[in-house]
Amino acid sequence: MDHFFTRSHAAIPTIDARDWRLEVGGLVDRLRQFSLNDLEALPQRQLTATLVCAGLRRAELLSLAPMPGELPWGPEPASTGVWTGVMLADVLRAVGVSERARHVEFVGLDQVERHGHHFGFGGSIDLEKALNGDVLLATELNGAPLPPVHGYPMRVVVPGWIGARSVKWLGRITLQEEPSDNYFQSRAYRVQREINPSDPRDVSAGIALSGVPLNAVILEPAPDQAVAAGQVRIRGWAMGSAGQALTKVEVSPNEGRDWIPAQTLVEGTAWSWTFWEATALLPPGRHTLIARAVDRSGAMQPSSLQDTWNVRGYANNAWHRVEVEVR
Ligand code: MTE
Repeated sequence: MDHFFTRSHAAIPTIDARDWRLEVGGLVDRLRQFSLNDLEALPQRQLTATLVCAGLRRAELLSLAPMPGELPWGPEPASTGVWTGVMLADVLRAVGVSERARHVEFVGLDQVERHGHHFGFGGSIDLEKALNGDVLLATELNGAPLPPVHGYPMRVVVPGWIGARSVKWLGRITLQEEPSDNYFQSRAYRVQREINPSDPRDVSAGIALSGVPLNAVILEPAPDQAVAAGQVRIRGWAMGSAGQALTKVEVSPNEGRDWIPAQTLVEGTAWSWTFWEATALLPPGRHTLIARAVDRSGAMQPSSLQDTWNVRGYANNAWHRVEVEVR
């Protein structure tokens, strides 16, 4: 658990689980407030899922243009957990979803401040994902109660979607016709490639992120690591888009001229990463290693950072390049 990354846009709220209630409202047949006991009475499910922050690998995009105010993440903000809780679909069935509902909004009990306004972090997913996408309202991570930093007493886990939709310290679920107008859906976590000259950080005209794209990440060797010449071991993780299984992971030791198939070390589930390993014969000198993957939908990764660049540096899944010094 100590190795699970974390990202919060405000202070961690202090919540007494005895007083905590989950409000479910909007376009439902019966408005309801659930206590933890009420939710524990519903079937408990387990879900193994990798949480991936939309800012994963943003640092590489900074080589193209500065991104003031954004965290320069490398491969750190991705972690896998075994989550336990109730299925969102079961809770929605308990309240009855009205025919007009199309989106499910989650709002947390933290208090973010933006432009002088204070509000709970939030965002929405479409109803189809909410009903069929294995979305969990989790109370446990890896067999223990959720630590405060990860959303105690309850958080959403939207597997396969950007981490921002997995709202922590969940307080309210609202069924609605339109996507959430929460700042973190309508003004951030959107892919926009044109800069608004009057407000260079504005991405409100972009497309709201949902599924995490196919990605393959080299973890070892680390950038600029010195390695001994000969057979060099290259390791990392990969994950398909939207729960798609991987069909191929490969590594190039020479700028894409040759590709070496990687072996699976630990096979992921539909919603979690797969660890892979490849070996390449490297002579002394500076080399760029590249990793890329393909998934069952046929999705491939763009080869260059220019193709994935966007104003706030989200969802970078260009071929991952790592330079190493071989001695
Ligand atoms: N939920 C709330 N309430 N507040 C937040 O700031 N951050 C989001 C998401 N859920 C956030 C939140 C983001 S951007 C990510 S990547 C994940 O939580 C990180 O979850 P973790 O801290 O458990 O790793």
